[in-house]
Amino acid sequence: MIQPGGYIRDILDKPIGEKVTAHGWVKTKTEFPAHYFVKLNDGSCFDELQLVVKKGSVSDDVLAKITTGACLVASGTIVESGGKGQRIDLAVESLDLLGAANPEEYYLQKKRVSLEHLRDIAHFRPRTNTLGAVFRVRNAMAYAVHRFFQERGFLYVHSPIITTSDAEGAGNMFQVTTLPLEKLPKGEIDYTQDFFGKRAHLTVSGQLQAEVFALSYSNVYTFGPTFRAENSNTARHLAEFWMIEPEMAFCDLDGNRKLAEEFLKYIISAVVKECRRDLEFFQQFYDKELLKTLDNVVSNEFQHVTYTEAVERIMKSGKKWEYAVEWGSDLQSEHERYLCEEVFRKPVVVTDYPKQIKAFYMRENEDGKTVRAMDILAPRIGEIVGGSQREERYDVLVRKVEEQCRIHGTSPDAYKWYLELRKFGGAPHAGFGLGFERILMYVTGMTNIRDVIPFPRTPGNAEF
Ligand code: 4AD
Ligand code: MG
Repeated sequence: MIQPGGYIRDILDKPIGEKVTAHGWVKTKTEFPAHYFVKLNDGSCFDELQLVVKKGSVSDDVLAKITTGACLVASGTIVESGGKGQRIDLAVESLDLLGAANPEEYYLQKKRVSLEHLRDIAHFRPRTNTLGAVFRVRNAMAYAVHRFFQERGFLYVHSPIITTSDAEGAGNMFQVTTLPLEKLPKGEIDYTQDFFGKRAHLTVSGQLQAEVFALSYSNVYTFGPTFRAENSNTARHLAEFWMIEPEMAFCDLDGNRKLAEEFLKYIISAVVKECRRDLEFFQQFYDKELLKTLDNVVSNEFQHVTYTEAVERIMKSGKKWEYAVEWGSDLQSEHERYLCEEVFRKPVVVTDYPKQIKAFYMRENEDGKTVRAMDILAPRIGEIVGGSQREERYDVLVRKVEEQCRIHGTSPDAYKWYLELRKFGGAPHAGFGLGFERILMYVTGMTNIRDVIPFPRTPGNAEF
C-alpha cells in the first residue's frame, strides 16, 4: 500500500538519524567527486530536500534519468547537511525512478522561464518556484476565509452557478443553452424550447441568492466561481474568477465596512504567518517592500472617504488624467490608484457613490442622488471589494427594478422573488464581494491576475 503523507515539509523538521522516505520532482542534480546532490521538491513547501546519492549506489541508467522534472522516491537516513542553505540532507540508501522527464523535451530546463511563457504550459507551471508559492498562498488564504466566517457563526451557502437572473444588471453574462446554435430558427428565439425553459446564464455574483439565505440565517457567505463576459483584456480582469460574498441581515453600511476591514486584515495576517517562506520569496524577486506593506495594512486603519470627497481630491490634484473626472463619473483605475498610492498611501474605502453608476439593489440615501455603496481600493491593484447596504424598502426597490428593466429591455417578472424578500419579513441588510484573485495579487506582489489562478480564462484564452 502507498499512502498519502510523508511530506518534505515534515521531513525537513526531523531529527538527525531518523529513517524516512521522500517522494518528489527533481529540481537540480549537481555532481561531486564521490556523490551527487539532488534537490527534490514535492510542493508541500518552498524548500527542497537535498538528497546525497553516493556514486555507485544507483545504476548508471537510473542516474542518467535523474534530470530536472523527473519524479522519484528515495529512502534513507537524515544526516547533518554537507552543503550550505539547509539543516539536513537525506543520505540515500535506496532510490527508484517513478517517471523520467526527457531533458531534450521537458519545458522547465532553463533556470528562468518568463511568466508569459509559463501561461502556455499551464500543466507544468505549478512546478516552478513562483507558481508553486502562489498556489500555496492561495490555498492558505482560502482556508483562512472559511475560518474567519465560521468563527463568527456565518453559514456557508453554495449559490448556483447557473442562474436566470442578472445580479449586477450589467448584462455581461455568458449564456447557457442547449439550443442547436448551427441551426437556430430565424427571428426571435423561443427560450421555452431551451433546457431550462427560459434564458439562463453563468452567474456574475451569488449575491441575490445570498440575500435569500441572509433573510433566513442572519449571517451567510458564498465562496465560489463567478463569470463575466467583459471584453476587458487587462492585467486585473478574468472571465472566470472566484468571489467571496458575505451577506448580513441587521447590518448597515458602517457595519459592512467594519466587517470588510476586519476580514481583509484577518486573511492577510493568516497568510503572513502561515506562508512566510513563500512571501519572502515574492519579496526577494517581485516586490522588495512586500512584507512591510502587508504589516502596515494589518496594523493601520483603512482610510474612509465619500465619493464626493474622493472626486474633489482627484479634481484638485492638478494631474493629467486619461479619463477626466467630474461628480457623477465612475472612478477609473488611474483615479483609484492615485487615491490609495499618492493621497492616503493605504487601502481606501470609498462610500456613497452616485446612484446612476451603481447597481439597482443599493440603498438610496436621503439626498436622492447617492447610494449606500462601498468600494475598497488597494494600492497597486485598485478595486478589490465592492459592496453596499441593500435597498430593503419595497416601494423604492420596485421603482428601481422597473427603471433598470426599462434600460436593459428585460422583464421585471424575473425579480418578483427578490422583491418578495422585502414584502415578507424584510430587514435592513448589507454585504460585499471580495475578488479572490485581486487580493491574491495584492499579497503576493504578482502584477498579472492570470498568474494567481490555476487555469486563467480571458478573452481568446482557455487552456485545458
Ligand atoms: O464590484 P462587483 O461587481 O460586486 C458584486 O458583484 C457584488 N454583487 C458584490 C456583493 O455586494 N456581494 O465585484 C466584486 C469584486 C470586485 O471588487 C473585484 O475585486 C472582483 O469582484 N471582480 C473581478 N475580479 C477579477 N476579474 C473580473 N472580471 C472581476 N470583476 C469583479
Ligand atoms: Mg465593483
